[in-house]
Amino acid sequence: MKDMSDRDIAALDAEARRILQLNDKGGYTVPTAGLYPYQWNWDSAFAALGFATFDIDRAWREIETLFSGQWDNGMVPHILFHVMDEGYFPSYDTWGTADAVGRGACTLPSSGISQPPVAASLAWEVYRANPAAGDGRLRALYPKLLAYHRWIMDARAETGAVVITHPWEAGRDNAPDWDEAMAGIDPAGVQPYTRRDTGHVDARMRPTKDDYDRYIWLVQFGRDRKWDDSQIAAESPFRVADPTMTFTALRSTRDLALMADLVGEDRTEIDGWIARLEEGARGLWNPETRSYDAINLRTGNRAGSVSNAGFLAWWGGLRDERALPVLRDVLDRSTYAVPSYDPAGPQFDSLRYWRGPVWAVMNFMVGNGLAEAGQAELAARVRGDTARMIADHGFAEYFDPLDGTPAGGGTFTWTAAVWLAWASPSAVDRSEGTQ
Ligand code: GLC
Repeated sequence: MKDMSDRDIAALDAEARRILQLNDKGGYTVPTAGLYPYQWNWDSAFAALGFATFDIDRAWREIETLFSGQWDNGMVPHILFHVMDEGYFPSYDTWGTADAVGRGACTLPSSGISQPPVAASLAWEVYRANPAAGDGRLRALYPKLLAYHRWIMDARAETGAVVITHPWEAGRDNAPDWDEAMAGIDPAGVQPYTRRDTGHVDARMRPTKDDYDRYIWLVQFGRDRKWDDSQIAAESPFRVADPTMTFTALRSTRDLALMADLVGEDRTEIDGWIARLEEGARGLWNPETRSYDAINLRTGNRAGSVSNAGFLAWWGGLRDERALPVLRDVLDRSTYAVPSYDPAGPQFDSLRYWRGPVWAVMNFMVGNGLAEAGQAELAARVRGDTARMIADHGFAEYFDPLDGTPAGGGTFTWTAAVWLAWASPSAVDRSEGTQ
């Protein structure tokens, strides 16, 4: 990277703000126009983090709009279909959530699964950016976050670790972590469908058709059971304990406990969740790979996959030095930290989505977790690489870890948000925020 001058930094900051405004549909932000025309759960929480650097009211609105889609059972869906768009598949009709068991009175069209629960952590960041402006809004949000986390513990945390019922729930659609569980699905009988993603983006950068058949098969499986969590838990061939879900849930639950203190609510129940999640998270340690990875609950097998999700352990608050050597090895093999899958691993594919590429949002959590755990040098590497990658290659959806090639969609909301809130040399040091 050329040295960034103050002018370069100001131009990149301005471009990142422009991207957030470009993708702002009025109260919610799309990840990028065309490829993802709706409101996504964890993308939206990151959008709020970005807005908080220049428009605190808009930041809160983003999270409030996300929670306007919350089901009566507490679940916050992974997609909210505010305005229907023919260019996206699977559509609201394919999800068939109109008569879902847990939905109750919520009328906003949505998918039937959730996504990594970063909302409490990022709402806490938004609050810390301007406590005076956020006090009332945090108090109003708190019971909704609590209900969301209660749903996670009831519907997804039977082993202590948080499980996914669909690869999309982990936010890491085609990660090698679920190759075994995906192979256990016979997608025969999947109804005919037309993919839309490969009309927007090069097919080499997207999941394969074999993956896609199974994604849609699992959507039909949930729909046929009216998205009833207990029926899906009992009958689905796909149930995988996932490090992304587990570590983000653990972190968010810790932040929820801080909120409980702030708003003057009893935190006993939340402390119980933290203890259970911690135990579950420790159970994801794989002594063979010396990193944290997924477990297929149907076979008991560990994935054996070294991924950026495993490196979220520090963000989750586990001060685990055992995982540092493997992280160092992976970074030694990468031009840009942190690849979604070890470049030396057998499934590595530098451009294919979650099988190699770098994602700025994961870097935000890995880097901040490392900094909080006192690993200043590694944290600086992750943050510096994120800045370099964006400055040299733009605000892409994800990047090749070996040469930085920008991939997937462009003008991407969460990449812009992570730039503004953290990667940009102009970003306020988080450790200086109000505690
Ligand atoms: C892809 C990503 C997922 C993200 C969504 C919208 O499906 O894998 O994590 O939320 O796109 O950006």
